[in-house]
Amino acid sequence: MGTVTVSAAKSYDIVIGAGILENAGELMRGAVGVGSAAIVADGDVSGLYGDRCEAILRGSGYRTARFTFPGGERSKDAGTLISILDFLARERLSRTDVVVALGGGVTGDLAGFAAACYMRGVRYVQVPTTLLAMVDSSVGGKTAINLAAGKNLAGAFHQPALVVCDVSLLSTLTESAYRDGCAEVIKYGAIADRGLFDSLEEPIKGNYEAVVTRCVEIKRDIVAIDEFEDGPRKALNFGHTVGHAIEALSAYEVTHGHAVAAGMAIAARAAERMGILAAGGAGEIIRKLRLYGLPTTTGYGAAELAAACTSDKKRDGGAITMAFPTRIGSCVLKAVPMDGLESVIRSGLG
Ligand code: GLY
Repeated sequence: MGTVTVSAAKSYDIVIGAGILENAGELMRGAVGVGSAAIVADGDVSGLYGDRCEAILRGSGYRTARFTFPGGERSKDAGTLISILDFLARERLSRTDVVVALGGGVTGDLAGFAAACYMRGVRYVQVPTTLLAMVDSSVGGKTAINLAAGKNLAGAFHQPALVVCDVSLLSTLTESAYRDGCAEVIKYGAIADRGLFDSLEEPIKGNYEAVVTRCVEIKRDIVAIDEFEDGPRKALNFGHTVGHAIEALSAYEVTHGHAVAAGMAIAARAAERMGILAAGGAGEIIRKLRLYGLPTTTGYGAAELAAACTSDKKRDGGAITMAFPTRIGSCVLKAVPMDGLESVIRSGLG
């Protein structure tokens, strides 16, 4: 078991290890004290781990209640958010109590945003059950729901009080969900750590604890200097500009990691053609994505992708800030004018 401490508006620990769900109650007592714990989980995760999680928390003195919703990105909407808020009110959760997000990125975003809104902010604990949530979305305090106009358009920065990453929970991941997480891991290697990138020649699933720890350390360092994404944190959006467009155009049929994989390949090819990325870099990233069975392009055209990017949060007036790798393990941020975005995307499509 290891701990990575994030220094943001408030400091909090990310505890990583195999089998540590058993310690979740005690870890929570240390982080937030004892009270009521409102667990939010999708139906699948609730069936797999809900009873166990409740029993563990009760064993540590918590009163528990559980809200279950249908899994999938399409649930990350205003309707589910309001249902969670109503549930918290019905359960009479107070400001001394805690919301527990038990699940993947959708659950963490929804439960975290509900915690940010309910009574103008209550504490929440992330218990991620997917690789993607462990390495990325459960850390750093971004919470959100999707709007009809685009992904994550309503949300808040609200840091968790604790993150409990029990890597043994990853044994139940579907192959597709595993690949979603691998895409984010490849992202960290590509933008920040050549050693991590190279180590991914060995399957991530044989090395979960070390890989999750390294990704979380990279994210900790970035969040510590730019919690609110005014600058350096935008590097974590490598592949996400086009990735979010693919997700939205597919009505979320293409899952986040797969969309980001295609977005990274497109951004890498474009970067190489613009002379930002050293020759051969795009090929290395694309080969790594293929090693994990991830897509490296999309059937959507440059014009529709660029149009879908106009509602992206990363747009700032007439330009959108994109992260481009300069070599494996390093990246740069560039403001791409909206009227030049289509040609950048086209150059990356293959
Ligand atoms: N997922 C990117 C970030 O948290 O900034």
